[in-house]
Amino acid sequence: MSLTRRQFVFTTLATPVAVGLAQQIASATAPAFLTRGLNQNSKLRLLKVGCGGMGQSDLSQLVDHKMIEVVGLCDVDQRQLDGWTMDSTNDKGEVRKARLPGVATFRDWREAYAKLDKNFDAMCCSTADHMHAPISMAAMNMGKHIYCQKPLARGAWENRALAEAAARMPSVVTQMGTQRIATKFRQYGGMLLRQGVIGPVKEVYAWTNRPAGWWPQGNPRPEGTDPIPEWLSWDLFLGTSPDRPYKNGYTPFAWRGTIDWGTGAFGDMGCHMLDVPFYELDLGAPISAVCNPVKASSDQFPESESVVVKYGPNKMTSKDGLTLKWFDGGQFPDFKALGLPEDWEGGEQGKNAVKGDGGVILVGEKGTMWFPIEYAWARVFVDGKPVELDRKEFTPTEFEVQFKQTNHWHNWVDACLAGKKDACASRFEKGGKMCESLSIGAMSCVEPGKVLEYDAAKCVFKNSAAASAALRSPYRKGWEVAGLA
Ligand SMILES: NC(=O)c1ccc[n+]([C@@H]2O[C@H](COP(=O)([O-])OP(=O)(O)OC[C@H]3O[C@@H](n4cnc5c(N)ncnc54)[C@H](O)[C@@H]3O)[C@@H](O)[C@H]2O)c1
Repeated sequence: MSLTRRQFVFTTLATPVAVGLAQQIASATAPAFLTRGLNQNSKLRLLKVGCGGMGQSDLSQLVDHKMIEVVGLCDVDQRQLDGWTMDSTNDKGEVRKARLPGVATFRDWREAYAKLDKNFDAMCCSTADHMHAPISMAAMNMGKHIYCQKPLARGAWENRALAEAAARMPSVVTQMGTQRIATKFRQYGGMLLRQGVIGPVKEVYAWTNRPAGWWPQGNPRPEGTDPIPEWLSWDLFLGTSPDRPYKNGYTPFAWRGTIDWGTGAFGDMGCHMLDVPFYELDLGAPISAVCNPVKASSDQFPESESVVVKYGPNKMTSKDGLTLKWFDGGQFPDFKALGLPEDWEGGEQGKNAVKGDGGVILVGEKGTMWFPIEYAWARVFVDGKPVELDRKEFTPTEFEVQFKQTNHWHNWVDACLAGKKDACASRFEKGGKMCESLSIGAMSCVEPGKVLEYDAAKCVFKNSAAASAALRSPYRKGWEVAGLA
């Protein structure tokens, strides 16, 4: 593949010794690659990277916006590309027309960037987690607007780098794919927290039913190899991650339990819940994290775990700071100890809490708030009794007022066309900060049972080289991206 000079600059300078230099170049040259001037009447020319799984939902949502023009599709799995561009016939012989016939397709995103070059304005990335950062950063370096699925990136360092890059690129509009943030339920609960309804927050409890029954975790690395299917570009799937032989079942979907490619149940589901404390309480980097796993593995995240992450104080937390207690894979907080009504656990709400996808409980100095992950209203309890809340106080968000809709994907498209990066509800500056913490919580399983102290300035654990390596994994040779390493 031949690279343009610009691609060369952005993909070849960041060898480990040249990282500092590459970062300087990335920021120094950014103005030369400013986004194309857009306005409300422009078409946003989109390259979609990762078109199966959640990528399908992302693309479906985006093509529903009348100002989107899809100019390229990229996936390492040929079946996903064909699904969008070619007619298909079902078992009954009925023909389903392709939704995007004739759109250019690529298996390699680097080739897509080089070939489309100035002919795309925006990129949406819905690949496996380990490729979010390189694919997004390389496009940001070209001045493209980015919608990237959650978690923003796999490693803490990559999250930091993306957040910082977004902050220094005022014309680049970014959004992380946490669509629940656009709902009235999420916005209402956020407003209550900001109003101080439960007072300074001391503890946050969060849980999910994943990974059990969803994807495998806690297993050793499989032995041997299987033939690589012709529909899959395995080397491109591996991308920046260390080389390993192909095994059936790695992709699609199940990759998220493997430490090299995902962030486990914590990083995956935490994004859908922990935006509440992170965005509304403005939590920064943690002080420490400790993981208590069931069935730990050096290749995958544990089968089940509880993780305790500590934060220093700020104006929204208690004066001693805040403790986040995370549970997954069938473990739950001790709901009875959390200041909820006595019948809560056995009642309808309690059943939802344990059987549903997950939830968050925030314990403040004045009360307790339950924030279900399902699309449902937050509830507040004081002295063990539910508080009647008057939702008339709830005012639409700035975004709703401005754009008259609450679709997270369309929020991004409208913000790109209006040139208003701050209008995005989950922009990288916010998403990166949260996902840095999620990465720290997730990767603490690498050294189980030890309180790992986090050095926020260096983005490493002070007392674990092994767990630190997962926070900033080296990129496979030839896959370096300026601004990342
Ligand atoms: N926001 C949500 O509600 C939500 C829900 C599910 C998944 N997600 C996120 O979406 C992402 C994808 O998850 P999924 O469950 O859809 O996984 P998946 O494996 O089903 O889909 C990923 C798609 O990307 C393709 N892909 C992988 N690596 C690629 C690469 N380097 N270049 C191009 N294409 C590549 C795969 O072939 C596949 O089609 C994850 O980061 C996940 O956390 C978000």
